[in-house]
Amino acid sequence: MAVPYYPVNEFGPLMKGLVIGGVGILHVFLAQFAIGGGALLYYFERVAQRGDPDARKFVDGYFKILVLVSFVLGALTGVAMWFTTIQVGARTIGLMVDEYHWLWATEWVWFAVEITAGYAFYRFGPRLDDRTRLRLLGLYAFASWMSLFWINGILSWQLTPGGWLEGGGMWAGFFNPSFWPSLLFRTAVAATLGALVAIIVINTMDLERPRKAALIRRASRFAAPIALMPLLAMWFLAVIPEDSRAWLLGGSMPMTMFVGVAAAASLLIGGYVIVGLIVKRLYINGATGTLLLALAFGATAAGEFIREGARKPYTVRGVLYSTSITPDEVAGLRRTGVTAADPYPLRDHARFPNDQLRHGAKVHRALCDACHTIRGSNGIVHLVATWTDDQLRLNIAKLQRTKGFMPPFAGNAEDVEALVQLLRWEIADRPASWPVTADPIMLGQIATWLDEAGTQPSGSQLHRSEAAR
Ligand code: HEC
Repeated sequence: MAVPYYPVNEFGPLMKGLVIGGVGILHVFLAQFAIGGGALLYYFERVAQRGDPDARKFVDGYFKILVLVSFVLGALTGVAMWFTTIQVGARTIGLMVDEYHWLWATEWVWFAVEITAGYAFYRFGPRLDDRTRLRLLGLYAFASWMSLFWINGILSWQLTPGGWLEGGGMWAGFFNPSFWPSLLFRTAVAATLGALVAIIVINTMDLERPRKAALIRRASRFAAPIALMPLLAMWFLAVIPEDSRAWLLGGSMPMTMFVGVAAAASLLIGGYVIVGLIVKRLYINGATGTLLLALAFGATAAGEFIREGARKPYTVRGVLYSTSITPDEVAGLRRTGVTAADPYPLRDHARFPNDQLRHGAKVHRALCDACHTIRGSNGIVHLVATWTDDQLRLNIAKLQRTKGFMPPFAGNAEDVEALVQLLRWEIADRPASWPVTADPIMLGQIATWLDEAGTQPSGSQLHRSEAAR
């Protein structure tokens, strides 16, 4: 079957992964706060109904507006996620929709319940009796957590498809090996974010300090699940594929550093909350609360980066590479070349002095552009600036062996050479004329390197068709 090509957008100098990552981090942060904030409102409403006037004041104050704002913004950035991912990885989204349409629909229903309950509470809360208020908040909190439950299954499937790879079907994919650790981890994060924002809001309330302190103590208890995070993180590390784990633990220094940043930030927040607030009952002011929240944002960003990075070279592990090409299609593309069936013209066609460079630009768009730009973030020109021609040819032909988190090169010797010339031309600062190379001995050498590298990914996990055999 023909490899489908989708029109993709470029966002240079940002690489595509960064664009999705940026929107994703904001979305996750807002959405997780909306979940924790909802649960915290429910808890404070119960306290209020047992006769605590300050808790009542809290529930009816700013906090619920923040929750509302964050679930509206969470919803908008969620739509933005769809919007950016279809421009960048249409085939991945297509696969996710094909496999999980009923689960997406279920998630959407919970989301609709969340919105309705949240808005109804916001709009009519002050006029409702106690029981109805509690029910509405309970429904809001539960529904928002349920939308996390469903989406988490689909996201964690991308990294660890588990039994789904062996034909286990939708549920095997949904309840995959990293389903529970990531769900519980995100739940603990949500509770912590809710508590930290509550602490900041309580500080703005017009109350005497001892009464604020009492509210803060309640809110900090809500962050107690942060104590479980080291355990949940280790559980997560234990279930992800071996090669991904190896990158996180030293194999890829940028990833390892992000693991360090996430762990250290979480440890600092956790230490402050557990030792300072819960055990020592310290008072925490709004400024310190804001600092902790900023640390939590950093930890969230690093955590999402790790999750996305650990999946390389796949968007769905074992099934679809980040380039929107499946492992099974690589061998065919080695024969035909990757540009043969690509119907889309280059946007900046006239920029290049010859057709070989245009060819190279198409190869780059099809095979590299998901994770690299030419000159911007993760720019190939910077990575290879000191390399010789043959070093370039060899390393690109054996791409999956150059670095295990890149897919095998899915094109022929002419594709490699065109890409090499493009990079050379870029390194030379785009001169107006450039020679075309077509030495048959050199092309033969590249073909041999391609054969030696093979069409299999370097990772420890076999791809789908092999696993099924
Ligand atoms: C799945 C994502 C992904 C794809 C697709 C990908 N790369 Fe990479 N590549 C990376 C990452 C991540 C690095 C590491 C960057 C670093 O070390 O700073 C890298 C590193 C490199 C390096 C430097 C290797 C070294 O040892 O220093 C080269 C050269 C390179 N890529 C070329 C390419 C070319 C050419 C393509 C397309 C044919 C490509 N890559 C496709 C993710 C990818």
